[in-house]
Amino acid sequence: MKQVHIMDHPLIQHKLSIIRDKTTGVKEFREVINEIAMLLCYEATRDFPLKEVEIETPVAFTKTKVISGKKVAIVPILRAGLGMVDGILNLVPAAKVGHIGLYRDPETLQPVEYYCKFPNDISERDVIVLDPMLATGGSASAAIQFIKNYGVKNIKLMCIIASPEGIAKMQADHPDVEIFCAAKDERLNDHGYIVPGLGDAGDRIFGTK
Ligand code: PRP
Ligand code: URA
Repeated sequence: MKQVHIMDHPLIQHKLSIIRDKTTGVKEFREVINEIAMLLCYEATRDFPLKEVEIETPVAFTKTKVISGKKVAIVPILRAGLGMVDGILNLVPAAKVGHIGLYRDPETLQPVEYYCKFPNDISERDVIVLDPMLATGGSASAAIQFIKNYGVKNIKLMCIIASPEGIAKMQADHPDVEIFCAAKDERLNDHGYIVPGLGDAGDRIFGTK
């Protein structure tokens, strides 16, 4: 089973406190979500392969390393995953971006798909799926199954807050997917919200409530 990385770096913990706070406004919430995504990306790309190239500095010729290997696609789960895209593209600007639209039915908590658009060559890419909240795990699991159906072999999931239930579901459904998150919270409440969590991530990013 692939590892679950819970990144408790002080910068991440500090930024998490900002987005958990219910008095934080939309502008700051959006900025900090992207900053955390960027910090998570640093760890999620640690295994990127390198190749040696020769370059000339102002002083001498030297051998140095650049990223090689498979190309990357990031796939935000709409809507809230969109809030993490710019943070990742700051560090991996050549990544292509696919989109998958899922919303959670408020009664059944089951994910309902409403949109999908992937790069044509997605099956040849490594994919990082983005969603700030891993609650029941239904949305992430369904999105990842969808991406696997396109023939993608190497998938990582990046979220900001995960519940124990969501991690367990991911490990049961997709043990081959490595998870990177900023915090593992206590539990879900009766409405499927993460406790203490940060509330509804989509509404807080887009100001819809
Ligand atoms: C939220 C969140 C996840 C999902 C997590 O999306 O962004 O996609 O819920 O819950 P789960 O793990 O129980 O599936 P939501 O359905 O609220 O849609 P939105 O992003 O459009 O607001
Ligand atoms: N979706 C959210 O946005 N927040 C939660 O706590 C659970 C699901």
